[in-house]
Amino acid sequence: MAYAALRSIGAYAPDKILTNDELAQMVDTSDEWITKRTGIKERHIAAQDETTSDMGVEAAKKAIQRSGIKKEDIDMVVCATISPDYFCMPSTATIISNKLGLGNVTAFDISAACTGFVYILSIAKAFIESGMKKNILIIGAEKLSAITDYTDRGTCILFGDGAGAAVISATDKKEEAIIDVHTGADGAYADLLMSPNGGTGSPHDSLDQEASSCFMQMKGNETFKVAVRTLTKDVVDILQANNIQSEAINHFVPHQANYRIIKAVGDALNMKESQVVITVEKFGNTSGASIPMAINEIYENGTLKKGELLLLDAFGGGLTWGSALVPFSPLE
Ligand code: UT7
Repeated sequence: MAYAALRSIGAYAPDKILTNDELAQMVDTSDEWITKRTGIKERHIAAQDETTSDMGVEAAKKAIQRSGIKKEDIDMVVCATISPDYFCMPSTATIISNKLGLGNVTAFDISAACTGFVYILSIAKAFIESGMKKNILIIGAEKLSAITDYTDRGTCILFGDGAGAAVISATDKKEEAIIDVHTGADGAYADLLMSPNGGTGSPHDSLDQEASSCFMQMKGNETFKVAVRTLTKDVVDILQANNIQSEAINHFVPHQANYRIIKAVGDALNMKESQVVITVEKFGNTSGASIPMAINEIYENGTLKKGELLLLDAFGGGLTWGSALVPFSPLE
């Protein structure tokens, strides 16, 4: 049986930075409030003409180059995004594949909001273990600034743009393999976090209705409580299911939504500070891109070493959630 290994990671953040002080000029807020309630100091914002696929391509180029796998050998591309280049078609994954010159590959998007990267990891694992694919490029990419209401202080302080990508490849070495991925969802909580208009559930009044109808809306405080509960349970479940102690985790990489959520979950799980990866202060919440961007951060600063065990933990709109136990298994 083939196993699935995480061979590489890459990420991209656009140049432009939006600070808390700049947001305080736009809505009734302050650097002090945002820092205290979220831990976020700044977030990156894509240029007007920069698309989600453009950012995905930059992250993917790094991931492919670092994987040591030839781009001709990639046989599938999956993109997790809630801010695709086009809402119906073509998928952002097909656009990324074309921009990368990957030729004939299976390519599609999935919609699982901030849990997107864990979902595409589970898809890649399943395709490889079944023998259907050998080298899969997975990408979380978001231009959330395009669907953020910059008059709503409850949401606009949180979100940023960026992309992260990874190459998942077949291996026969069990010690290199992704150990487990759990995913779940409960649509009963759909109204906590949604972009309500534009789809068949809430169609536009007219074809020229402005893009603002797709802005994200969130019941922040209720979402916060469910997030802490779900993220904590996710970890307990996956560690128990695999008979792994939390001390064995080298890097706990939770979805970067809010420092207070990460701290509450880390404390509930008795994680040491040195185990917990936090990037929320510089990128804000980049939804499906947040986990791969955080993994890339520890890769680029030299903290993540070959053979170390990552524990991923995500939560997002849908509601969706998921966790994964993943050794970092580069070829070299
Ligand atoms: O990515 C996955 C899903 N998303 C999340 O996980 C996000 C979860 N939620 C959060 O991160 C937090 O709920 C927020 C940061 C959005 C809000 O923090 P909170 O501590 O839950 O505040 P709150 O919504 O309970 O609001 C407390 C007060 C309210 O004022 P009153 O009613 O007490 O007078 C808000 O109007 O804070 C006010 N407020 C703000 N004040 C200054 C809300 N947003 C702001 C703001 N600046 N940006």
